[in-house]
Amino acid sequence: MNISEVAKGIYRLSINVENILFEGLWEIPNGVSLNSYIVKGEKTAIIDGVCGWDETPEALFALLDQMDIKVEDIDYLVVNHTEPDHSGWIESFREISSDFEIICSKNAANFLSAFYNHTENVRIVNDGDILDLGNGKQLSFVEIPNLHWPDTMATFDNETGTLMSCDAFGSYGSVSERNYDDLLSEEEISFFLKEAVRYYSNIVAIFSQQVLKALDKCAQLPIKIVAPGHGIVWRKNPNRIIEHYRTLANYQKGPAKKEVTLLFGSMYGMTEAAVEYAKQLLDEKGVTYRAYRLPDTDIGTVLASAWESQGIIVATPTYEFKMFPPVAEAIDELGRKKVANRKAIMFGSYGWSKGAKKELDEMLERYKLNWDLLDFVEFNGSAKAEDLNKIQTAIETLINSLEE
Ligand code: FEO
Repeated sequence: MNISEVAKGIYRLSINVENILFEGLWEIPNGVSLNSYIVKGEKTAIIDGVCGWDETPEALFALLDQMDIKVEDIDYLVVNHTEPDHSGWIESFREISSDFEIICSKNAANFLSAFYNHTENVRIVNDGDILDLGNGKQLSFVEIPNLHWPDTMATFDNETGTLMSCDAFGSYGSVSERNYDDLLSEEEISFFLKEAVRYYSNIVAIFSQQVLKALDKCAQLPIKIVAPGHGIVWRKNPNRIIEHYRTLANYQKGPAKKEVTLLFGSMYGMTEAAVEYAKQLLDEKGVTYRAYRLPDTDIGTVLASAWESQGIIVATPTYEFKMFPPVAEAIDELGRKKVANRKAIMFGSYGWSKGAKKELDEMLERYKLNWDLLDFVEFNGSAKAEDLNKIQTAIETLINSLEE
């Protein structure tokens, strides 16, 4: 838990959570921070109060204690987004104080009613509405739907140029007291940019076209500081994370980095032996690639890599007339997130029946991924010399198709 001053009258309260699955689904090997912001004018507002993942408010209340702020002193709860990592504590808050107002979007009001049966003291705000806290603190609101739920808005402090952006511009990764880009080394910032890829691809990616619209909207604001609900605050170079998000959003339709993601599964090592051959070729050609064995690798990791890669290699045996199930599951997730317009090849072993390619074709069609499936090699049992030659040709074709 830590507290720090973001800018005049704005304080950040953070807790880290680890050893959970984000959204009950995504592995977060480096943890994630949950960030609340207190804004003080004559009145006091809390923006995106956080709770532990178990929705207990004790951590937040302890942070308020450290700031000598009583729950009863908080006048406004600005709910940028109702996902329970940001709102699960409100009911506990309501048990202590009744004299407060919730400020949120229309969609968020509906969700508060649905999730918590909470309908009282709710003020719905729209784009551009202003909440005057007194002492020169005026907060305005920017609706940025689908970043990450349809209710999401960002809160902008006009005095300091601070955009409290909720899930937008967030990343995984636990934080320390030095959770500001102006206090971190370049290596540490790179870590958070990488964690942002994982975070983005896991929970935001499917909404990439709405992200691009939100970015255009945010560009109208004189932003000096980006203060997200997860990850570090960007105070020295807010454009760095904003442009990082623009790049990531554009990857949905490609072109992505000149890199290859090799995802593979193998039952008895025959497909894996061909994968080792492929890796050797990629190494010899100097191609940047990441190889993931399934089901040993979590899907979130595969997704983050594929999101950034122009090239995809699918290596799978045929299993009961279809792809090896963990490989099919990974492809399904790429489909759900619309990882589109990639260059791809496929290879793998079959025993008594083929079928893996047919299933891949069906999935690409179902999700309308428009992959350019450049080549396909399947071999009966173990790969023989002629099969390896075909795999070599397929890989060279893939490499030649990648653009700078
Ligand atoms: Fe941080 Fe969409 O919740």
